[in-house]
Amino acid sequence: MVKLHEQILRDAHQSMLATRMRTEDMLPIAKKLDEVGYFSLEVWGGATFDVCIRYLNEDPWVRLNKLKEAIPNTPLQMLERAMNIVAYWNFPDDVVKKFCFFAKKNGCDYFRIFDALNDLRNMETPMKAVKEAGGHVQACMSYTISPVHTVEYFVERFEKLVKMGADTLCIKDMAGMISPQRAYDIVKGCKDAGIKLEIDLHTHCTSGMTGMAYQRAADAGVDILDTDISAISGGTAAPPTESVVAAFKDTPWDTGYDLELLIEIRKYFLKVWDKYRHLHRFNALKFDPSVTLHQIPGGMLSNLIFQLEEQGAHDKYRDILDETARVREELGYPPLVTPSSQVVGVQAVMNVLHGRYKVITKETKDYCRGMYGKSPAPIKPEIMKKILGPKWKDEVIDCRPSDLIKPMWDKSKSKLNEIDGGSLIKKEEDIMTYILFPQVGLKFLKGEAKAEFTSAQLPLPIENPLTRAMVKQSFPEYKQLWIDHLKTEWGLLKSQQNLKLRLMVNLTK
Ligand code: CO
Repeated sequence: MVKLHEQILRDAHQSMLATRMRTEDMLPIAKKLDEVGYFSLEVWGGATFDVCIRYLNEDPWVRLNKLKEAIPNTPLQMLERAMNIVAYWNFPDDVVKKFCFFAKKNGCDYFRIFDALNDLRNMETPMKAVKEAGGHVQACMSYTISPVHTVEYFVERFEKLVKMGADTLCIKDMAGMISPQRAYDIVKGCKDAGIKLEIDLHTHCTSGMTGMAYQRAADAGVDILDTDISAISGGTAAPPTESVVAAFKDTPWDTGYDLELLIEIRKYFLKVWDKYRHLHRFNALKFDPSVTLHQIPGGMLSNLIFQLEEQGAHDKYRDILDETARVREELGYPPLVTPSSQVVGVQAVMNVLHGRYKVITKETKDYCRGMYGKSPAPIKPEIMKKILGPKWKDEVIDCRPSDLIKPMWDKSKSKLNEIDGGSLIKKEEDIMTYILFPQVGLKFLKGEAKAEFTSAQLPLPIENPLTRAMVKQSFPEYKQLWIDHLKTEWGLLKSQQNLKLRLMVNLTK
């Protein structure tokens, strides 16, 4: 039997709908989701915390509470970025511990903990804190392809995570590039090494190989697979839940889930998918097997293209891809995931635009200093010298990065207390919101945040600029087509009798 870890309420909409799904989209279907019998439902963490306060004017703590109330039987899970928690920089131990405590208290049962560099020192504090709070630790290894990331590399580290107190293990393939054979070898390697903990495979469909990888992982004895209800699945998201359930029916891996119930849930999420149609991107729905060559995750690729367009240098796209691979190698093959993907990506852009390591970002320097943790492979001295200067050895830290950060909780609490006579703190969790996102969090707590849209405004009408942008990305020739058309049909337009035509014209503005 294989169990499924449902991602529809977190990773699916983070991958396909810019993380914009609201609590009010989740609650009406909560009871049905709870009836499926999933291993766990991923509902929190990752980018959801940031997006809640930044774009939705929603309190993420309230979301967690409400979901727990609506889903009493299925364990709820969050994605926790080790010492970065749900943000993009390191926090001190006291904040990480408090966060895990509050998350558990508000309804999170399982904590999927990962470190971008697989530096296990960064995972110790959150793992301990979750255990102390009575939570379940799902310890991850970020998956990537490189000469150092061998099957043995993963198996050895999983063995260490077992010793560190993990409850279950997870291969976290955030770029969606694991091959069927690799999935088989790592799972089999763990089982052969005598690891008894259940193993979960998290991946995305990006490479197009994921369905095959799931079968091979099942052959090797994988215990849990990550899926998204089909309405928001495939492409840069995970494989569809119903398809995996159907594929394993009447086999040794039969999930035993009710396919009809899942199809009902699918129908509900098709409406949610339509509600956010201005966020649909056809490219995100497509497979992109080139990820197996350059190892750059889909989200990072679109960021790179955006950066290049901003700099007026989109003709450099190919060079940037090659340079990203080269910089990644020189920096010791970090898996490309937040925040290491930003370090490597931005430096690669700089190298192409200004010459190799002529402009070096603060983030690249910090990375080489060890401020993100230890790089998977050592960085060559000549690269260190280029980036940190001739005395590079004096700048490199040997300790865990968070050891250098002073405790923050009490200080931040008093600081927040001083603002508006302490009236902003309605509950202790509000202090955490402020610590995690000082500016956006403060604005949110002050009640000054505004939701970009309300549910009543969604789906956006066709003449909204965001909907128009969505259509245009698929039909770049659209504008010219209609200009040509108008020239011949000018009379028709002038009389303004053809409503459909007018609507189409509006679209091209
Ligand atoms: Co993911």
